[in-house]
Amino acid sequence: TCATCGCNNNNGNSASSDQVVKDVDWDNLGFAFTPTDYMYVMKCCQGDTFSDGELQRFGNIELSPSAGILNYGQGLFEGLKAYRKQDGSILLFRPEENALRLRSGAERLCMPSPTIEQFLEAVKYTVLANERWVRKVTMHNFSYVVFLLDYFFWDIYREYLIERCAHQKVCFFFLFYLGWLDLFWQIPPAGKGSLYIRPLLIGSGSVLGVAPAPEFTFLVYASPVGNYFKEGLSPINLIVETNMHRASPGGTGGVKTVGNYAAVLKAQTEAKSKGYSDVLYLDSVHNKYVEEVSSCNVFVVKQNKICTPAIKGTILPGITRKSIIDIARGLGFQVEEGAVTVDELLEADEVFCTGTAVVVSPVGSITYLDQRVTYGKGGTGPVAQQLYSALTSLQMGVTGDKMDWIVRL
Ligand code: COI
Repeated sequence: TCATCGCNNNNGNSASSDQVVKDVDWDNLGFAFTPTDYMYVMKCCQGDTFSDGELQRFGNIELSPSAGILNYGQGLFEGLKAYRKQDGSILLFRPEENALRLRSGAERLCMPSPTIEQFLEAVKYTVLANERWVRKVTMHNFSYVVFLLDYFFWDIYREYLIERCAHQKVCFFFLFYLGWLDLFWQIPPAGKGSLYIRPLLIGSGSVLGVAPAPEFTFLVYASPVGNYFKEGLSPINLIVETNMHRASPGGTGGVKTVGNYAAVLKAQTEAKSKGYSDVLYLDSVHNKYVEEVSSCNVFVVKQNKICTPAIKGTILPGITRKSIIDIARGLGFQVEEGAVTVDELLEADEVFCTGTAVVVSPVGSITYLDQRVTYGKGGTGPVAQQLYSALTSLQMGVTGDKMDWIVRL
């Protein structure tokens, strides 16, 4: 743990060891950065194409103080998650979509980008090299059987095994405890999150005048994560920002450039200091249409109709957003992408956010100017709950992948 600020960042150095995996507080991981073992690095010069990527031990990278990313913010990032299925295989959710989004962002920021195949290979190598950090999302089959037996046949157990027969009693307790040990001794433990994968594409070469960098670096690293918001799966409280904007028409709000996230820090920090979970931004032209939250997209539900702001260049085209739209339509909901006014937001029956990091996060309250609106009875709304379950059971391999969204490693 860092002595200065108490974070669990070891300054980027690869001091990971079995000891560290065991020492991670899996229950309270949140979305803090935990270094893992390896990262994937691939470089390319301006006018050239990416080639010869390689895995390296995770650690600091060297950059000139005049690197394009440091001076002019020429950089993009992506985010995706790996889950470990019950049978031990590792699942990625729609990684080609991240590759495509990175490519469109690279085009906007005048950077060359890895091909879809190179992107997928880099992500796969990174996940496999850091495999020991991918937690099981469910317990072993064996534990399931034990727990089911314990649950349904407890009376029979007690009467016939425990009270009548001494050696079977030992056997029963052995099985019972083995089931629990299996659950709790898994390192990393079962059912507690995922491995977050962070691809970066940056202008790493030196520039002084405003221009694209002469060299670019594509890098993929990973960190085990839990819930994004400190509320966990409980509803979050948002405040609508009326003075600062995240993006403007013709800008870069629709691509995942690092600057979009620097732009929200002030409003977000102020909101958090007042006890809000995060900030909801409005459009910069009319200051009345809902855009997105600092790190996620937003959906409103009114009388079983689901609406989300349309993608028009100022809103990030979220992969979870797109997936939730398809899942909801598949479940029979009417889903509309269009303009959502702040009034519609305040009159909604339910509001929820979506994103790779946040998954599906229910919103408990929204504050707009002096008005505070609450949704539901303090718990997760039924639509958000249904969509959360449908999405996560697909991502974790619990339900069948009819859409062909899962890549199994
Ligand atoms: C993600 O959901 O992957 C994101 O990019 C959000 C991030 C800013 C935490």
